[in-house]
Amino acid sequence: MSGRIKINLRSSERYHGVLNAPHRAFLRSIGFTDEDIGKPLVAVVAAWSEAGPCNIHTLQLASYVKEGVKMGGGSPLAVPTLVVNDNIGMGTEGMRYSLVSRDLIADTIEAQVNAHAFDGFVGIGGCDKTTPGILMAMARLNIPAIYLYGGSAEPGFYGGKEITIEDVHEAIGAYIAGKITEDELYAIELNAHPTVGTCAGMFTANTMASIAEALGMALPGSASPTATSSRRVAYARETGFALLNLMELGIKPRDIMTYEAFENAITVLMAMGGSTNAILHLLAIAYEAGVKLTLDDFDRISRRTPYIASLKPGGDYAMADLDRVGGVPLVMLKLLRAGLIHGDALTVTGKTVEENLRNYKFPNVPHEHIVRDATNPIKPWGGIRILKGTLAPEGAVIKVAATSIMRFEGRARPFNGEEEAFQAIRRGEIKPGDVVVIRYEGPKGGPGMPEMLRVTAAIVGAGLGQDVALVTDGRFSGATRGLMVGHVAPEAAVGGPIAVVEDGDRILIDVENGRLDLLVPDEEVKRRLRNWQPPKPRYTSGLLAKYASLVSSASMGAVTLPRP
Ligand code: FES
Repeated sequence: MSGRIKINLRSSERYHGVLNAPHRAFLRSIGFTDEDIGKPLVAVVAAWSEAGPCNIHTLQLASYVKEGVKMGGGSPLAVPTLVVNDNIGMGTEGMRYSLVSRDLIADTIEAQVNAHAFDGFVGIGGCDKTTPGILMAMARLNIPAIYLYGGSAEPGFYGGKEITIEDVHEAIGAYIAGKITEDELYAIELNAHPTVGTCAGMFTANTMASIAEALGMALPGSASPTATSSRRVAYARETGFALLNLMELGIKPRDIMTYEAFENAITVLMAMGGSTNAILHLLAIAYEAGVKLTLDDFDRISRRTPYIASLKPGGDYAMADLDRVGGVPLVMLKLLRAGLIHGDALTVTGKTVEENLRNYKFPNVPHEHIVRDATNPIKPWGGIRILKGTLAPEGAVIKVAATSIMRFEGRARPFNGEEEAFQAIRRGEIKPGDVVVIRYEGPKGGPGMPEMLRVTAAIVGAGLGQDVALVTDGRFSGATRGLMVGHVAPEAAVGGPIAVVEDGDRILIDVENGRLDLLVPDEEVKRRLRNWQPPKPRYTSGLLAKYASLVSSASMGAVTLPRP
């Protein structure tokens, strides 16, 4: 198919014509021929790092993508972007860089793709922030692009059941509570994550990979094969080849990432009980795509979408198990049959969602234990709900897929930061009926909304998951379960009501009615807010300080915006 794409190549302005000889000279130095220079120039962006299992293999995948690009008639070049590993940063200062890295990834891709005048790109992601960062760049740059996931790890096995990294975090809580020995904790650590690839449950990485597929930005079925599967190699080649087809058709990301596509993505998120982080990320990707999406869209879609997939942490199965029964296309087929997704939405195959599902080769195996019909759901509503109220006027999120409690009223136990709360749990100071409030961990206050997995896992591991709630302006890991409300906005650092919660105040979490209320008279809250002083920022120089000055509210996806 070489030579089929001849018009409107932006690389022509950089590399063709007499005056561009210096630019061509550098392409020749890396082995390009006249023929290579005449083809569409494709970036294969690998979010690559050896510092963790999630993205360690993406450079290798990039080489297979390049083969596909060449087969399609393009000239590929691999370029990197960064990875901040969430599990390794969890519970430490390092976690403050996690959400920050999402926007950095988008920015580094913009810089490289624009500076080198690439005509299109494939983005290969893995760990949590890499997928949304890549999708943000695709929406922002709006040149032909396809996403490829690096794949999840295979689940581990211990004590007669599948385990994941979530079990190690919860084992820490159980160890602190004296429920397991150090030897048992060590055995869980040894067995939890046995291969390369991302965290094995439907945590944030797998949620975002599923969303990339549901948005139409990744090839059908490409989210679920494990990192170790040979099918991932095939998907890599096919993705490279498909990009050239997309370029020939002239289809760009904003042709695909429409409002309807976001509705599809939210529906799949709710049906799978995916990570609450997806709400932040979808808001941010929509912002880049110029699509007006709000928290109310999530609430509306959640109320009409049945929760049908039994995936960890709310359910029993890992991504590898979902893969064996039909992957994300199986979930989408169930939703299409129920009339809950837009079958006419365009995708990177150049075909619609409905056409893709019609052509997809589903394995003919029993699957009801993992994915149910929409008429026989696990729960009649979606896995995540939006709460608003006097404690969260702009909104907050709760993952109902990971708890059976729909209403909880308790006594506030406020902490100014995650570490204070963790130490209180360690000392056994948190009691049944408490609502642990962790504040100054929002987009600006954290900065970077660190995930509270260490605290939530300690609560669940101590056997308090049914009796203690947590409310924070920070985030949760996709692996979090229990009664946990996050993304409370406005955050404490900008004077949201969460800043003035006092020890012993009553807090009501009412999922059915979508409420998160501080049960303190309005006048008293206003009086406290009048006396409130913002704390000194945690960072005054470097990346985190810059980020804190640019980041917006969690209710807007915590996107970084240029200062007016
Ligand atoms: Fe990378 Fe979980 S830490 S996907």
